[in-house]
Amino acid sequence: MSLVIEQATPEHGDILAKLHAQCLRPAWSAKDFRALFKAGARGLIARKNGMPCGLALYRLAADEGEILTIGVLPSRRKEGLGRALVVAMQSTARIGGAARLFLEVRRDNAPAHGLYKACGFTSLGVRKAYYADAEDAIVYQCRVLEDPES
Ligand SMILES: CC(C)(COP(=O)(O)OP(=O)(O)OC[C@H]1O[C@@H](n2cnc3c(N)ncnc32)[C@H](O)[C@@H]1OP(=O)(O)O)[C@@H](O)C(=O)NCCC(=O)NCCS
Repeated sequence: MSLVIEQATPEHGDILAKLHAQCLRPAWSAKDFRALFKAGARGLIARKNGMPCGLALYRLAADEGEILTIGVLPSRRKEGLGRALVVAMQSTARIGGAARLFLEVRRDNAPAHGLYKACGFTSLGVRKAYYADAEDAIVYQCRVLEDPES
């Protein structure tokens, strides 16, 4: 099956919101996505055979980047889409001159920890009781100036 990672724009707000609602809680609305684009965020959509199956949102500022969200439809997980989205963000960050990418993830989100570690991220620290239900956040970083594929 063909996998394509495409740039998302504010016009993709409805598609992004639909994908996000199937992947994450709380869901972000199309309005939320448009506001994030307006504030400088960039987006990606992963398509398999043309069908939107995954999304990512990130931002770059100065020499740093931050992954804001990433998700893959439950029916399409473990097929490499999450990794392809992260690799695309790492490439764009590298081209954009960022030295490091950051993100935070719930301590209990094993698939996400697996994905980030597989993509070269290392744990930087813990934000205690960071989420509304008091779950901790683990902060990860990845140096993107060195190409992990090389
Ligand atoms: C996290 C998520 C994006 C991973 O997407 P995915 O497309 O299934 O990931 P991939 O198939 O590209 O997997 C890449 C690597 O991640 C790791 N991984 C993926 N799923 C995993 C799981 N369930 N448990 C442990 N590691 C996992 C593996 O190392 C995998 O490499 P491998 O296939 O060679 O073993 C997906 O599970 C998801 O959408 N979860 C819900 C949303 C979410 O939690 N987002 C992250 C918020 S911080």
